[in-house]
Amino acid sequence: MALLEVQNVSRSFGGVQAVKNVTFSVNEGEIVGLIGPNGAGKTTMMNLISGLIKIDEGEIRFQGARISGLKPHVIARKGIARTFQIVKPFQGMTVRENVMMGALFRPDLQGLKGSAVKQVVDEALDLLELDRKAEEPVEQLNLAQRKHLELARAMAMGPKLLLLDEVMAGLNLKEIERLMELVRKLNGRGVTILVIEHVMKAVMGLSNRVLVMHHGSLIAEGPPEVITQDPKVIEAYLGKRRHKGLYREAK
Ligand SMILES: Nc1ncnc2c1ncn2[C@@H]1O[C@H](COP(=O)(O)OP(=O)(O)OP(=O)(O)O)[C@@H](O)[C@H]1O
Ligand SMILES: [Mg+2]
Repeated sequence: MALLEVQNVSRSFGGVQAVKNVTFSVNEGEIVGLIGPNGAGKTTMMNLISGLIKIDEGEIRFQGARISGLKPHVIARKGIARTFQIVKPFQGMTVRENVMMGALFRPDLQGLKGSAVKQVVDEALDLLELDRKAEEPVEQLNLAQRKHLELARAMAMGPKLLLLDEVMAGLNLKEIERLMELVRKLNGRGVTILVIEHVMKAVMGLSNRVLVMHHGSLIAEGPPEVITQDPKVIEAYLGKRRHKGLYREAK
């Protein structure tokens, strides 16, 4: 059975149909890439899955049960964690305290001693290689470290499904390769991952399967090597803006 099922989902903002009748599923253990030119509807799709915005039509199911219509914190507690395209750590807190915010969502930690929470937080800090930064104010982290923090906070929620929205954006090649390793490591721990990404090297290198959105619709789906050769996909990118093309290189 698929872990996540998105069925005929649509959402408009005024006159803009941001997501049009989109259907796909994500199986347990997969890393699935979600790509498409700017404004394709990728972040909106992620917002619909995590319940941040409501769907107009269709249905989203997680582990066989309908989640569309539920509140974001309820969906999070079912095991769906996410990062945001614009990283916004809680200011005035340490790195550890920021990661703790993720652990507080976990139903399995409610009523447990502080030591159990600390263990979860320590594990997430270790996993994302932030253990040596744990007691520093979050303001001291550079962009790459803030991306690691986003992932650590999401991991502290103990997710079954992790939604990543452009975690590679703004990073240099070395930082991208390091983060790719970490994403693979999280997947190796049994976390299923849906990743929105413009950095093609990263999304093609990580994904078992790639979904392509354009103008709100799903226009292609397949393994990375097939998707990069798909004329519809190439056209969607080149027809938009050449400098944001499919093969835009990382810095
Ligand atoms: N809250 C909102 N209110 C109005 N319009 C919105 C809202 N959110 C998204 N849109 C519109 O929906 C469309 C899809 O936007 P979305 O952010 O999902 O694209 P995206 O694929 O994530 O793009 P990018 O790659 O630039 O992040 C765009 O036309 C956008 O302007
Ligand atoms: Mg987006």
